[in-house]
Amino acid sequence: MPNSGPPLELRRRNAGAATDRLVNCGLSTRRRDRPTAVRGAFLATQRHRNDFIMILQRLLITAIACGATATSLAAEPATAKPESVKPGINDRFLAPDLDVREWVERFEVESREIYHARQIVAARLKLKPGDRIADIGTGTGIFVEPFSAAVGPTGWVYALDIAPAFIDRIGAIIDVKSLANVTPVLCGQDDLRLPPESLDAAFICDTYHHFEYPQTSLASLLRALKPGGQVVVIDFERIEGVSREWTLGHVRAGKEVFRQEFEDAGFAFVEEVEIPGFVENYFLRFRKPAQ
Ligand SMILES: C[S@@+](CC[C@H](N)C(=O)[O-])C[C@H]1O[C@@H](n2cnc3c(N)ncnc32)[C@H](O)[C@@H]1O
Repeated sequence: MPNSGPPLELRRRNAGAATDRLVNCGLSTRRRDRPTAVRGAFLATQRHRNDFIMILQRLLITAIACGATATSLAAEPATAKPESVKPGINDRFLAPDLDVREWVERFEVESREIYHARQIVAARLKLKPGDRIADIGTGTGIFVEPFSAAVGPTGWVYALDIAPAFIDRIGAIIDVKSLANVTPVLCGQDDLRLPPESLDAAFICDTYHHFEYPQTSLASLLRALKPGGQVVVIDFERIEGVSREWTLGHVRAGKEVFRQEFEDAGFAFVEEVEIPGFVENYFLRFRKPAQ
């Protein structure tokens, strides 16, 4: 909240101190030169008057403080939170009792196209030693090791997810496999929490359709990428009358819509890459335009 003065607490205290100072200085009733009875009556009247004035002053100061707060609140720009494009889609991942083993069994099976083709997919990113890549929505971390090997000891892998349990798992993978160039990052639903122009590449696998705030997430990604940096998106083909019922219900839009959303966010489409074995999935490459 914009604030041009001391905190409200302090202002109130200072206001109180200022009031006391005013009362003490201007309205002192100690007059020793009058007869006692007269002085007593006089003091009583004066005391009532002083109390009354003090109450008025305190009311006035409180009114001014409230007015200032109301004005500064009114002056603050309204930052309405955008609405989720798919409310609830991440509830299972955000559940405090998420069972990671259950997701390992789902994600890390050869019958899953993406898992089966993981080495080919990693190779098609054409990562170079020294590159910095973010695996956004890393899940159980099936690409962490291939990326770590591809960027080598001078490169870095940021494994991002919104689910704390998956981030813990990445920490365990790092320990067990002694990966010295991987950092797990608990990111926000609409914010990667990575520094500007820190990435050569970003990888969003089976995750873009989980973005609840795609516009803000893509703006955050554009900031985090270096000019010329690439983004690879793997997602489900979603074709009415062709795709499975599950896909039609779970994935909010098809390839053309997603491609347009990336282009609207400022990414340039580069190519669609054929991956052997992909039937339900596609691989798109974009770039952040070089300045
Ligand atoms: C279907 S899983 C895919 C995991 C992994 N990429 C894979 O292909 O095995 C989707 C993952 O995206 C994560 N996720 C959802 N929204 C996200 C967001 N806005 N930013 C980062 N991760 C997100 C979920 O927690 C989940 O781990």
